[in-house]
Formats: sequence, structure tokens, C-alpha cells
Amino acid sequence: MTRTIWQASVAAAALMTSVPMAAQTTPAKGWMDASRTPDERSALILAQMTLEEKIAMVNGTFGSALKRGNPNETRTGAGHVPGVSRLGIPDLYESDASLGVANGGEMRKGDVATALPGSLLTASTFDPIIAEAGGRMIGSESRAKGFNVLLAGGANLVRDPWNGRNFEYLSEDVLLTGVMAGAAIKGIQSNGIVSTIKHYALNAQESGRNALDAKMAEAPMRESDLLAFEMAIEAGKPGSVMCGYNQVNGHYACENDFLLNTVLKKDWGYTGWVMSDWGAVHSTVKAATAGLDQESGQELDKQVFFGAPLKAAVAVGTVPAARLDDMVRRILRTMIAHELVDRPPPTMPQPIDYAANAKVAQATAEAGIVLLKNDRDLLPLAATAKTIVVIGGHADVGVLSGGGSSQVRSVGGVPLELPMPGGGPLSSFIKITYHASSPLAAIKARLPQAQVTYLDGTDVKAAAAAARAADIAIVFGEQWRTEAQDVETLDLPGTQNALIDAVAAANAKTVVVLETGGPVTMPWAGRVGAILEAWYPGQKGGEAIASILVGDVNPSGRLPVTFPANAAQAPRPTIPGLALVKAAEARNAAKPKATTLDLSTVDLTGGVPSFPVEYPEGADVGYRWYQRKGAAPLFAFGHGLSYTKFAYRDLKVVGDAISFSVTNTGKRAGADVPQVYAAPAGQMRRLVGFQRVLLQPGETKQVSVTIDPRLIARYDTARPGWSVAAGAVPITVGRQAGDAVLSGTMQVAAQAIKP
Ligand code: BGC
Repeated sequence: MTRTIWQASVAAAALMTSVPMAAQTTPAKGWMDASRTPDERSALILAQMTLEEKIAMVNGTFGSALKRGNPNETRTGAGHVPGVSRLGIPDLYESDASLGVANGGEMRKGDVATALPGSLLTASTFDPIIAEAGGRMIGSESRAKGFNVLLAGGANLVRDPWNGRNFEYLSEDVLLTGVMAGAAIKGIQSNGIVSTIKHYALNAQESGRNALDAKMAEAPMRESDLLAFEMAIEAGKPGSVMCGYNQVNGHYACENDFLLNTVLKKDWGYTGWVMSDWGAVHSTVKAATAGLDQESGQELDKQVFFGAPLKAAVAVGTVPAARLDDMVRRILRTMIAHELVDRPPPTMPQPIDYAANAKVAQATAEAGIVLLKNDRDLLPLAATAKTIVVIGGHADVGVLSGGGSSQVRSVGGVPLELPMPGGGPLSSFIKITYHASSPLAAIKARLPQAQVTYLDGTDVKAAAAAARAADIAIVFGEQWRTEAQDVETLDLPGTQNALIDAVAAANAKTVVVLETGGPVTMPWAGRVGAILEAWYPGQKGGEAIASILVGDVNPSGRLPVTFPANAAQAPRPTIPGLALVKAAEARNAAKPKATTLDLSTVDLTGGVPSFPVEYPEGADVGYRWYQRKGAAPLFAFGHGLSYTKFAYRDLKVVGDAISFSVTNTGKRAGADVPQVYAAPAGQMRRLVGFQRVLLQPGETKQVSVTIDPRLIARYDTARPGWSVAAGAVPITVGRQAGDAVLSGTMQVAAQAIKP
């Protein structure tokens, strides 16, 4: 392997062992005594800090600002907050890291990192062990690159199929999101660094994200989005919570007393710190008293609200000095609890075992790619197939990734980068980026006897002719999504539907492989033989897709989101506020273009006025909405096929414990994800348990799940708290939402649970 200059310098730097700041400080200082608790130690540090030092710790800049002091600084991620070196408190070096250590744009040119698949794919594994392994890998790379805070843990529920950022979120289900986000965060933090969970809360669309006001009553919010965050925080214990851009019931999420003080800090007893999203702060006194602890990416705010104005507010008492101490104590306490002080990451980049990490990315992809349809066992590809034509999706060069702050420029490089559609100011930062993992090359490598050809699909007639002449046609369909923009249609962009139709008409043995960042419509679904949803499959996506196509890997992914039959089925068939966004864009386009970018004058709303987004479905998010409407989606939540078959037997319900057996009745080893659903009186049926089980042919395993009572409760704002009604709760075990292979009843006693 040839080494780039950058890799060589990284390796050289690794030889220079840096002396951690903590080690330079005399242990006589009580706060460096690791036998004391983080509470004791943070109190001791706080007592030593000046007002200036406290203020400096509660506002942070873009990471790129670090370059101004030291052009060779490598820890220029998304954000930076200075520590207090005289007290041995390190700086916070923050990097985005939803899917890998993000390094898109100009931030760290020449840097590479391992790119995991999109979060929807990780969630499709329904396996917290896989999510944790991915988090552990990302955390280890971050640590080796010198970052101690990762902006990860996207846990917003997928409420709308068109959200541009769905690929960074996990699912439409509370339990699945809570379990998987918690596991990923746990994995990251196992490296002695902090992970956020974000974007708290109801940050469910990108169009007008800095202007919109999400409207939902307290009870349904507690039963849905907030419960997902609560469960993820319980499982993952993230050191920080990032509040979102949007407003929730009339108040910005980062100055929302209900969300921050009441729910997060009081009811859930959260002891970490709340950091803002970049450019999400709008006030000093309101934000500080509502529970925001740290302003991030202050260059994007109208002013540094937690700088001089906070100092002035503390001086006159509009923000109590004790509140400033609380902010700082939360940050310090968390830094100590997560080893940032005692075991800081190296100051110079360390070598990374990218080959080992690539295996984590590939294993995740192989476990999460979902086989949606497989008529007459078209897949796995028969060894007898002599001629295969692969069409479209840039399958000759690589696999697609999603755009925005989570963008990873991966280890193999970027074989193709295309401008984002529509241009606009974002286009200089955000590009359509492919990972160098060609499905075509991987298919060829696995089927050396077959003649495998490629057409890019731009000539539909030529593609159809090639499909007619081949034994099998594999069409790649792609849909790019990005932060800061929603997809305006659920249809595959451009002429891809026409291409798939033409190919399917020419060859009944047509397989469609999708690389999408969320659900898409498939008007051709009935006419193709097999459909594989590969999501954004990460830097080893091509290999993973090929392994499944040829049968080296038995597919086991299950959909974490419903695929509607058409856009009209979704709770909001169109994007609220899109007309306002378009009008503002048109106004901006007519203005003269600034020659230089001055961040302090950037208006993140883009001139879009505040507008409400109603969520009348409330807690009936995702598949529960379809159930409520009696609508049959194209593919249900939880759906996914295998090359083998599984039987469920012997359901037992004892108290809140549900158990049953799963048998692999087919001829191949494979993993199944049996799902347990409950239907409490007056509520839509919901997922209350699941487990991914790997079974050899003929093998049987027992599955047991225990139901969290909050999943069968209602939130009672009058109490306040959770209320489980006494009575019989129908329980079903099935392969997807709405399926009931086994049925039983759970007898529930009345129960009250504190918020
Ligand atoms: C995104 C966050 C991200 C932050 C820093 C924001 O635009 O919403 O998810 O962590 O930028 O890059």
C-alpha cells in the first residue's frame, strides 16, 4: 500500500508520546485526585475558577478558529471550547460523528476516516451490539485524531418520509430508536470521550429548520419523541444533549424551559450538559435560565450570547451566579466522569487500524441491508447465471452517502463528487459524495465465471436492450439526501423509474438495488423480481451489497421506517413551510452575492418567517399512523426477507416477560428479528420488544423480552407521570408491524410511574 504524506506524518506523530495536561499538574491539587467523585472534583475546580474562565467555558467557536492560532492544528472539527490550562482542564475538541469522524468540506482537507453506513441502515440490524460496535469504532478513531467530544447520537424520530436528515436518524419507533441510539452512544463513550445525543427535540424536518415551530401537546410528546430520547439517555448516558434549531410550542429548543429544565434535568435527572446546535442560540437570559449550558458555534449566532452579555447578566443578577456555576459544574463533572481530564486524547494524531475498522463498516452493512422482495427466489444470484448486466447508480465507481455535517470522506477516497441539485449557498459546502466501494467490481469479483457488464442507465433503450440479452439485470436506484434540505418528492429522482420500468419489461429477472436515505415510492415494485434496500451502505457498501446478491451473506435487515405506497399516505404528504422556503430562496437569489462569507451576518433562517408545523398524529408516529388510518403501506415497518425461513412457537406471557421460540426451518444459516407488539386499550399497537437471533438450519432458540411499562402506559399531565391501566393487553409476535404469527394476552395491574 502506498502511504500518503498525511499518513506518514500521522505515523510519525504517533511516535511522539504527548504528556497529557493532567499529568503536568501536581496531584496535590485535590481535583486531580481520581479517588474523589466527579461531583467532589468539579466542585473543587469550580471554587478555583475566575468569572472570565467560567464564561469562556460556556461558549465555543467553530473548530476552524483553532487554525488561526496554529495552522498545523489537526483537531479542527466542528467546534472548540477552551479549557483552563492552569487548572489542568483540557479544551473541548468537538467533531461531528454520526456515521464516522466527519471531515467533509474544507475542514480537514486530506483527512480520511472510516465511514459507517447511514443510521437507518444501522437501525435496520435491530441489533444494539452492532450499533455499539460501530460507536466504539467511531469513538476510537475520534480519540486517535484528538477529539474528546463527538456530535453524534441522532435520535429524532422519523416522522416524515421526506426528511432530508432521515439517514442520520434511526427509526420511527420509540423503542428501536432508544435502544439503538443508546447503544451507539455507549460504544462511542467507551473510549473515554463524550458523545452528544441530538437534536433535542422534535427537529423533524430540514425545510425552515431554524424558523419552524413544532406543535405538539405534552402527553403525546412524552409518549413519542421524548420517550425515545429518555430511553436512549438511560441506555447510553451521553455526556451532553444538543438542543435543536427549531422551536417547540413557541419557544426555541435551546431556550425551552419545559424541554430543558422540566423534562431533561428535573424529571429525567440528567446530570450532563446541554450544548446548543451551531447557530441555535437566540438569547442570553432566557436561554441561560431555561437550561442551556453552553453556546456552540457562536460565530453563527447573532451575537455571542454566552460571552459578554452573560457576564453582564450575572453581574446584575438577571442570571444568578449560581446558574453560571451550574453550567460550568455540569461541563466539568461530565469531563471528569468521562475521563477527559485524567486520560485526555493525544494532542497529535495516532495511527488507526483502518483495515480492522473497515470490517466493522462492512459487517454493519451486511447485517442491515434489507431484502424487500424476492419472487421465486431470484436471489441469491444463481451460480448458473452466465450474463449479468448492472445498470445505473454509478455502481461502477462506488456507493452514495448523505450530505451535510455528518459527511465522511472515507478511507478509499472519493471516486465521484457531484454538485448538489439547485445550487444555492450550501452548494459550496455540500456535495453529492460517493465512497469508493464499487458494487460492480464486487459482483465481478464474486462471480468470476459470469460475464458482468455495466451501463450507466442514461440511455434507457440501450439499458432495456442489454437487459433483454442478459440472464439477469441489476438496476441501481439512488436518492441523495442532505442536511438542510428535504426531498421534495418520494419518487426516485430523474428518469430512474422509467429506466427500471423499461428494464423490468425487458427481463423478468430484474433485481433493483436501492441506495436511499429514507423511504421512496416504487411504482414498479410489482414488476421486478427482487428489491434490496441498501440505504447509504458506507465505505464497504459495494462489497456488502455483492455479498448479499450472491448469497455469501444471508440478508437480515428489517425496515426501521414504513415505506408508504404513495406520498398521500404519509401524515403530512407535503413539506410544511416549503412554499415559504422557496419564496425566501427566490428573494435571496435576486440579491447581489456577497464576495466574502461573514458568518456573523449569516441568517440561518434564510429569511424564512416563523411558521407552525402541526403533528396531529402525536404519539401515533410511523406505523401507528398507518394502523390508525387503516392504510396498507408499500412495505411495513419491521419488514425484511431472508434466504431461509423461520417459525415462531410457544408464546408464554408471564407478568411483563414474553417468551417464545424461533426455529430456522430452512437450509441456510440466517438471522431473524422476531418482533413483539402490544396493543394497550385505546392505543395503536406498538413495538415493545425485539431481538436479532442468529440460527443455523434446524436450530431453535428461545427469545425472551421484558416490556418497559412506559410503552404500555399513557402519560398523564394531571398526575403528572405515567399511568398503566389495569386490564388485558393483547400481545402479538410477528415479522413486521401488523403481523401476528403468535397471539397472547398480558394481564396488567394498574401502575403509576414518575415522569
Ligand atoms: C448540525 C449538527 C452538527 C453541527 C456542527 C449543525 O448544522 O445540525 O448536527 O453537529 O452543525 O457541525
